[in-house]
Amino acid sequence: MTQETILKGLVLSFTGSPFDGTPEEAVVLHEAVALSAGKIAATGAADSLTATYPQASVTDHGEKLILAGFVDAHVHYPQTAMIASWGKRLIDWLNLYTFPEEMKFGSPDYAMDIATRYLDITAAHGTTTMCSFCTIHPESVDAFFLAAKARGQRVVAGKTCMDRNAPDGLRDTARSAYDQSKALLEKWHGTDRISYAITPRFSPTSTPEQLEAMGALWAEHPDCLMQTHLSEQTDEIDWVRSLFPDARDYLDTYEAHGLLGAYGLYGHAIHLEPRERDRLREHGAALIHCPTSNTFIGSGLFDMAGLMAEGQRIGLATDTGGGSSFSMLRTMAAAYEVGQLRGAALHPAQLLWLATVGSARSLRMEDRIGNLTPGMEADLIVLDLASTPAIAQRHEEASQFWEAVFPTIMKGDDRAIAEVWIGGRKVAHQMMG
Ligand code: GUN
Ligand code: ZN
Repeated sequence: MTQETILKGLVLSFTGSPFDGTPEEAVVLHEAVALSAGKIAATGAADSLTATYPQASVTDHGEKLILAGFVDAHVHYPQTAMIASWGKRLIDWLNLYTFPEEMKFGSPDYAMDIATRYLDITAAHGTTTMCSFCTIHPESVDAFFLAAKARGQRVVAGKTCMDRNAPDGLRDTARSAYDQSKALLEKWHGTDRISYAITPRFSPTSTPEQLEAMGALWAEHPDCLMQTHLSEQTDEIDWVRSLFPDARDYLDTYEAHGLLGAYGLYGHAIHLEPRERDRLREHGAALIHCPTSNTFIGSGLFDMAGLMAEGQRIGLATDTGGGSSFSMLRTMAAAYEVGQLRGAALHPAQLLWLATVGSARSLRMEDRIGNLTPGMEADLIVLDLASTPAIAQRHEEASQFWEAVFPTIMKGDDRAIAEVWIGGRKVAHQMMG
């Protein structure tokens, strides 16, 4: 017989998008959530859930906030060991720090070490699903999926394809990128909680032939996500223009090769032309906002308010290790700060939505993860809203709910993550770093 679990506390569910209408009205708070067989069985009044599930184990989390685990929609797990590398902008940062580290992932042992370390660190920060770039090595994909499978985690990842403008040892070809991606996709996609994403790194490191091959693979597997980078830095955009003189704009380098679609994920998307915005919206493609990366590498300020207002699909992400933090709390804080610099203060309900439902929507997984409603997979976290003395004193003074939550968004870290549940099972503390 299945053993049910009931968690009591401030259980937060979204009933709609806090970007449509009044943000507070998109949220309901329940007294408890019941988990059964890896799914959310019910939310509601504590008495009613304990009456429905009399055999359940019950834990009372008091004033702690219980919500869906964070969904990080764009990361590079292989960059775990070189996060926070000093002093460079995108192209130099890739050449000096990123590519030498990624070179190491031909070793299955090294790849497994870093995949394990990465999943430990992110679990400690309350992230239960992520969409990751790997390296050009198929071994890096196998290691990540094996490590995620052992934890029962819902993850998305793919082999990063590059056939030019990358060092020796870190280039494939149009043909080998297609063949290896296809083999990995057929091996992993849809097994356990694993999804494969077709992953051309970005236009500067792929020849038109490789982009064409990736587009062909995507056409053969339209239920797969496709992830890449778009318009992150102005120098990068100039470079794309010189590499693709016939393209109308950066997005066109993807569009012309079958790499624009509803299941497309475009990381950064900061310096967009009106045509690019129109095409992304028409396709329902997802733009992934990576605010700590955008400030850390000096890329620019994402237009959250404008892009949301025009109806774009938007997710939130750390972009580890161009991003300077593994924490989605820190990432929400950075999104708030970027919003302020653009003159639009994001409401805490909007920030939490972006880190859960918003990212799940961008991954086309909002029917499975990102929210605490019956039938969803039981990936959730318990957030301590008074996790440090500085946050606690601010929390104590709060006169309403959102004022009690916002200091943890702005100042919280892994100390705020009291518990993590993945697929209905509590993550052991040693896995939480
Ligand atoms: N553009 C192409 N590759 C990368 C990467 O690894 N990180 C970031 N931030 N941008 C990229
Ligand atoms: Zn990236």
